[in-house]
Amino acid sequence: MSEKKENEDLHYDTYLRLDSFLECQIPQSLKLGGQLVHDEHLFITTHQAFELWFKQILVEIDSVREMFHHEFEVVESKMLYIVRRLGRVAAIFKLIIEQFHILETMTPIDYMDFRYYLKPASGFQSLQFRCLENKLGVVEDLRRYKDAYKDEFIDEKSKTILAESINSPSLADLVEKWLENIPVLNDHGFDILQSYKNAFLKWTKDTILDPAMNERDAKRKEKMMTEYNKQADIIDVMFEDVDKKTEHRRMSSKALTGALMISLYREEPRFNQPFQMLTLLKEVDSLMAKWRDTHVSMVHRMIGQKPGVGYCSSGYLYLRSTCSDNYAIFPDLINMPTYLMPRVYYPQLPETLKQKLAFAHNSQT
Ligand code: HEM
Repeated sequence: MSEKKENEDLHYDTYLRLDSFLECQIPQSLKLGGQLVHDEHLFITTHQAFELWFKQILVEIDSVREMFHHEFEVVESKMLYIVRRLGRVAAIFKLIIEQFHILETMTPIDYMDFRYYLKPASGFQSLQFRCLENKLGVVEDLRRYKDAYKDEFIDEKSKTILAESINSPSLADLVEKWLENIPVLNDHGFDILQSYKNAFLKWTKDTILDPAMNERDAKRKEKMMTEYNKQADIIDVMFEDVDKKTEHRRMSSKALTGALMISLYREEPRFNQPFQMLTLLKEVDSLMAKWRDTHVSMVHRMIGQKPGVGYCSSGYLYLRSTCSDNYAIFPDLINMPTYLMPRVYYPQLPETLKQKLAFAHNSQT
């Protein structure tokens, strides 16, 4: 009865809590300086819009992480949702990157008029941004200011939320574990990795070594031989396990082999959705990098090389350093084209394996 009454009373404003939501833009220039600086409203609105979208991205990433916490086949049966939600995350990133243009309608001098009222607040203290980095899989040891960023969160609630984001498995961890468990790996007497290495060496022989043998120009021949030896090393090194996560290598050899298998045989029905998932993971990673790049370019034009008002960092130079591979989430997946080759060289899948990949397993049906 009371529930019905509540629904009847529901109004657009109350459902969206607009009364409180639209009261949250409080310019510091008015509060501290006594005079409103017009562009401060835009500055606040833009940041709040970003934070709201960060929240939505976190909702999507948390739900995807939750789905990955299950057995291989269960995750496989949820792949459609994983793909759709990652697609949504990519769409949000594209939108928020565009949002920077609106803030850029403010000139550096307009910004100077209220910047010092913001002291000592900084985007460096954005808890949601840190959670996003951690939940996607930014590696703690590869961060700059890896301790200082945590010190910005003083109250117990923020500390707990941040610690949870650091200590729970990231999306990158979960994807790695899933890829390691692809049931068809080394199945049916087919060793994909060894077969792929052999095929890759045959391809480099056909396209680099054999032409080098017929090359008359000694200098060119030498360069081709160097390239041939380099390619042979690449394929060995790429699939060695790493002891420590680096800017270029994070995944285990087994997981990387799983990703390679999905990429090569993506036309097999059971690999269709996983292939889309891998594509979206790379896209989200690239979009996060693009966010950083767009932000730092705007910061450079807005404040030059001044430090942030909170003295959290050196400002531009620090932000530029975060646009590096150290902050990448899936460098192994992004690097994969380094050792791809034309389809005609792909090892043939045994017929029994093809059959296994023909039927999408769905534990719920
Ligand atoms: C006039 C516009 C802006 C300026 C001048 C600016 C400046 C800066 C500076 C100097 C830093 C480095 C940390 C520090 O020393 O304070 C920083 C970090 C950051 N800013 Fe901005 N920012 C602007 C707009 C934005 C917007 C719209 C957002 C959206 C939420 C944002 C989010 C962040 C985040 C998340 C960081 C931390 C990045 C990291 O540590 O990798 N900033 N910003």
